[in-house]
Amino acid sequence: MKFYIETYGCQMNISDSELISSILSKDQFIHTTKLNEADVIIFNTCSVRKHAEDRVIGRIAQEISRKRYNPNLKIGVIGCMAQRLGEKLHNINGKIDFVVGVDQYKKIPELIHNSVEKDEFLSNTIVDHSEIYHELYPTHSGKYNAFVTIMRGCNNFCTYCIVPYTRGRERSRSIEDILREVENVGNIGFKDVTLLGQNVNSYNFNNKNFPELLEQINEIDSIKRIRFVTSHPKDLSDDLIKVMADSEKVCEHIHLPLQSGDNDVLKRMKRGYTIEHYLEIVKKLRENMPEIAITTDIIAGFPGETDNQFQKTYDVMKKIKYDYAFTFKYSPREGTKAADFTNQIQEDIRLKRLQKLIKLQESITLAKYQDQIGKTKEIYVEKISKKSDKEVAGKSRDFKITVFKGSKNLIGKFVKVKITDAVGWTLKGESIQEIGDRR
Ligand code: 5AD
Ligand code: SF4
Repeated sequence: MKFYIETYGCQMNISDSELISSILSKDQFIHTTKLNEADVIIFNTCSVRKHAEDRVIGRIAQEISRKRYNPNLKIGVIGCMAQRLGEKLHNINGKIDFVVGVDQYKKIPELIHNSVEKDEFLSNTIVDHSEIYHELYPTHSGKYNAFVTIMRGCNNFCTYCIVPYTRGRERSRSIEDILREVENVGNIGFKDVTLLGQNVNSYNFNNKNFPELLEQINEIDSIKRIRFVTSHPKDLSDDLIKVMADSEKVCEHIHLPLQSGDNDVLKRMKRGYTIEHYLEIVKKLRENMPEIAITTDIIAGFPGETDNQFQKTYDVMKKIKYDYAFTFKYSPREGTKAADFTNQIQEDIRLKRLQKLIKLQESITLAKYQDQIGKTKEIYVEKISKKSDKEVAGKSRDFKITVFKGSKNLIGKFVKVKITDAVGWTLKGESIQEIGDRR
């Protein structure tokens, strides 16, 4: 049987889809990237905002129409929305064949087989706070960058966030299992790994913490670049900053969600830090790594956010000058604390605030990219440029897409490039030295 997976949401979901591909492939299922070839279509879903759920419900309805000319087609829903809604999804769309929650992915092959045999709706969303998918290694879908999950779940219960309810309690994967996976991906040619967790700074396995894990991964020869997401400002230690600065392979890039620039809002979000603390971390990061790129997540229109409080977020963004900011309009999620707050902000105000943030960040990002002109950057070449077959494209250590003249034999190699121009959010440059594959 052939399976197709469509993935929504964060990198953790991408990584989970890779894990499921690996589980299914071991059971004689064959992965396809063509919808019309699929015997099973799986939607890996996200619940973080209502919009994300609505979109995927629309997509499921679209693909279910295929059942008319392919009656044996099975459609499954997995991921956060599957965990959150479980069997209720069958009421939303009666043609869904199976629903599997985030701790039951090992059961997917069995569920598909049963669904084929019995031709009835099946669901398994049993919560297992200990499931870490030990010794199961994903089929990495990228070519150059591999996602490696180091922990699952979250204990923070930020008042707006559904993740602790859908993904359960925080648990860390063993260091040995992580190192084995990173070595494996290095051996098959990946040189760039991104470590994943809802809150990587609270990684802890047998008293080994995240900076110690990073140091060990830094020792793996075949790996040349290390990134990680997501960092929580309340748990980001001086040790981590030191290890980032001292470890050759840890890239100068951090994603550090701010969410709001106002202390009262942060408190009501239950974020566990103040704006002063956040600014202090940014200062230390920049002192230790002057070239570091900092990206963030911001929510506009959290319940009770006044004009003045919103303005503080705006001002902090202006002050910090993020390389990029993912900005969101607050979306009430049933079951979270903030959804029950009585001071919800009107939709049109949330939207206006969001638009203001987007506009501000666009101008900051453009200026940041302009600032790169004249600098020399190490680019890991990933592909031929979309615009011209005489140019190649890759990423700098600080995660900026860079295009320069070159042929396909540079793909997978590291090249020193002098930045000559910034066109929107793409850097242009000239190759000055091929560093090779740095092996
Ligand atoms: N509404 C809007 N944005 C949200 N996020 C999480 N929950 C919500 C919500 N209910 C955002 C946060 C988080 C990012 C992944 O999604 O900014 O960091
Ligand atoms: Fe959600 Fe907060 Fe956990 Fe991030 S740290 S996943 S925002 S509860």
